[in-house]
Parts: sequence; C-alpha cells; structure tokens
Amino acid sequence: MKIGIDKIGFFAPHMYVETSDLAVARGVEPEKFTIGIGQERMAVAPKSQDAVSLAANAAQTILTDEDKQAIDYIIFATETGVDHSKAASTYIHDLLGINPYARAVEVKQACYSATAGLQTARGHIALNPDSKVLVLGSDISRYGLNTAGEITQGAGAVAFVVAKDPRVMAIEPTSVYKTEEAMDFWRPLYSETAFVQGKFSVDQYINFFDDLLQRYQEKTGLHLSDFHALLFHLPYTKMGLKALRAAVEDANEADRERLLNNFNISKHYNAIVGNIYTGSLYLSLLSLIENSQTLQAGDRIGLFSYGSGSVGEFFTGVMVTGFQDHLNTATHETMLKNRQAISVADYEAIFNDKAPVGQVSFEIDTTTDPAPFVFTGVKDHMRQYKHQA
Ligand code: COA
Repeated sequence: MKIGIDKIGFFAPHMYVETSDLAVARGVEPEKFTIGIGQERMAVAPKSQDAVSLAANAAQTILTDEDKQAIDYIIFATETGVDHSKAASTYIHDLLGINPYARAVEVKQACYSATAGLQTARGHIALNPDSKVLVLGSDISRYGLNTAGEITQGAGAVAFVVAKDPRVMAIEPTSVYKTEEAMDFWRPLYSETAFVQGKFSVDQYINFFDDLLQRYQEKTGLHLSDFHALLFHLPYTKMGLKALRAAVEDANEADRERLLNNFNISKHYNAIVGNIYTGSLYLSLLSLIENSQTLQAGDRIGLFSYGSGSVGEFFTGVMVTGFQDHLNTATHETMLKNRQAISVADYEAIFNDKAPVGQVSFEIDTTTDPAPFVFTGVKDHMRQYKHQA
C-alpha cells in the first residue's frame, strides 16, 4: 500500500518587508540579505495571527467535507505554540469542524517536528488504511530587532493530508534519522525570541545532511542520479544551498546542474515568505511541485528535515501520476501576489505591538486582517478565534 501526501496547502500573513529595505535600515548592503542570506521578502504576522490561526488558514484551503469526516488524527507541529498544556490542534479540530472521533496532539522538536508528524501519520495509515491524518506545521519566527538572526524571520503555515493511495507524493519506506544534543538554536520558556549560535547551527545542519545522505545511500544503494531534486529545511535559502553545494561538489555535471536548478525552483516560496520553522521543508516542496516545468510522475525527491537541538531525517518521496491536478497553485500565487509591502518602521511597530501576556481578558482588532481565521483575543484566560470569511 502506498502512503503519502494526498493534498498540501500553505498560508502566509498578508504583510511583508522587502529584505533590501531592511538591509538599508540596518546599514548593510542589500546583497548581503538577497544573495548572502538568499532572502527577498520577510512575512510579518499581525497580532491577529498566531500559530493556530495561521494553521487553520492553511488547512481550510485544502479540506473538503469528506476529508473532515475521514481525518481521525490531527498532528500539529510548532515551536511557537500558544499553551504549555493544551494542544493547538484542539482549536483546529473545532475551527475546521473535523470528525469528533479524532486524536489531536501537538508535537515539538524545533523545525523537525512536522516530519515526525508525517512519519507518525504513515504508521497510523498503515494500521488504519481508510483514515486520513492532517499534519500542520505552523510558526512565527522571531529573533528580535537588530539581531543577526532578524533577517531569517518569517511567518506561515503548511498543512497536508496523509492518506493511502496519495494523489501528490508517495513517501518511500526507507528513511534515516539521527539525534545529537546540541545548543545551536533554542527558545527557553521565558523568552519570546529565539537564542541562536548562528554559525554553529549552519555547521550542525550541514554535518547532519552529509552524514544522513551518506547513510541513506549506503542503506539503499541509490546515487545522486536517482534524485530529481534534493529539498531542504530552509531557515534561509542560502543555508540549503551551502549543504547542496557541498553534496554535489564531486558529482558529474548533469547531476550537479539538475540538482542546483531544481533547488533554485524549490527555494522560491521560502525566499519570499521567510523562515516558517516547522513548515519550511514542506513550503520548499510546494515551491518545487507547483513551479517546476520538468517534474514528472515517477520522479524521486530527497527531503532533508532538520530541527536544531538536534534531530535530522533524510527521506524520499515519489511523485504520483496526475499530481499536477491536485495542487492549489493558483490559490497560492494569488495569496502571495495580494500581500502588502510594509515599511521597516511599520514592521518594527508591529513587532513591538505584542498581545498582552498574562492579562485575564483583552480584545484584538481584526478589521485590517483579511485572513479567514483570526485570533481575536483572550477571555477569562481562554484564547478566542473567529472565522470571519
Ligand atoms: N553581497 C553578497 N554576499 C554577502 C555580502 C554582500 N554585500 N555581505 C555578506 N555576504 C555574505 C557573507 O559572505 C556570508 O556568506 P557565506 O555564508 O556564504 O559565507 C553571508 O552573506 C552571511 O554573512 P555573515 O557575515 O556570515 O552573516 P551574519 O554574521 O550576519 O549571520 C546568520 C548570518 C545566518 C548566521 C544569522 O542570520 C543567523 O544566526 N540566523 C539564524 C540561523 C538559523 O536560522 N539557525 C537555525 C538553524 S536550523
């Protein structure tokens, strides 16, 4: 039985900053951000969007009533969760009207956890072939104003349905994974912004990729020529490019050219949305499958998932016949095109305009947020959401 991604969608908030504007404001050359880091636009989340509403917005674009009945497991991957105890997926279950007889949990391991969700979903479908699993990766990346990590912020969510006989991509059974305790990136419970040892995080990521790709090749006997594309977790697109360049250094020209060209297509959405942590690898997958002119059914794609701390996994998927008919390319293009560019001053004001912490009740003005699902505030310590479209 084939199991894999049956549907996939994403959502980004309606505002962004041009990274070249941010560079000017920070006194660095724009090329450092656009070429050296590889980011063109950075999504900015208004106060009325959090990990829950972003995920609801991503999922509602792909789910039919039939899916909502068939889904009996919601796995919400995030590192910007809204509650230490209650899973964000319980809100999603309600907002989207999923079958009551469903499990709903939240999983965490930095940017890796949506992959944990995908692999857990595969096991669940193997045991329950007629069910479907909704996996969400949703985050708002915040390093802080005027920090080295600021340029690698972003916000957004990816949602995908895992099912048997998938219509987009079948996940192959073999994968390799590894864990190693490391303090390359973390966010203690008391901090709203992430701590990062930036250069160390890049080394750790590249070492994980090298090790896992080699292990995968030893385990399967597959070579670079067997991959149409290699996709990466992309906190910023240059990070994946560095890992890929090292991997293709000794490859033949055809493999090097194909993998570098396809990487270019796969980084597009990430370069104009920014870092969405858990959803980032899957946003890159979407970028490739929605924008490639050469991708065909039967093509194998390698995916490298990495979560600081650190856990990594390399696994593969094979495109399914007719996958092009089950994508939401036009919806995503329109959403990205309709976003509004804001100034650095406005971005800084939004960054500092945080929802109150620890206040019993408060309301958030959602009138300027065009998103269907919004976070409207807190009532008696309980978060409130609204479907406004
Ligand atoms: N034109 C083109 N490239 C330029 C440039 C210019 N004018 N000026 C600088 N660059 C390049 C540098 O050469 C460097 O390239 P390289 O990485 O290939 O060597 C790149 O821009 C970044 O410059 P650097 O000075 O190393 O940047 P930095 O000290 O500001 O830090 C990060 C960059 C990525 C380390 C920092 O943004 C960070 O910590 N981000 C978070 C990392 C992260 O997300 N980790 C989580 C991991 S999963």
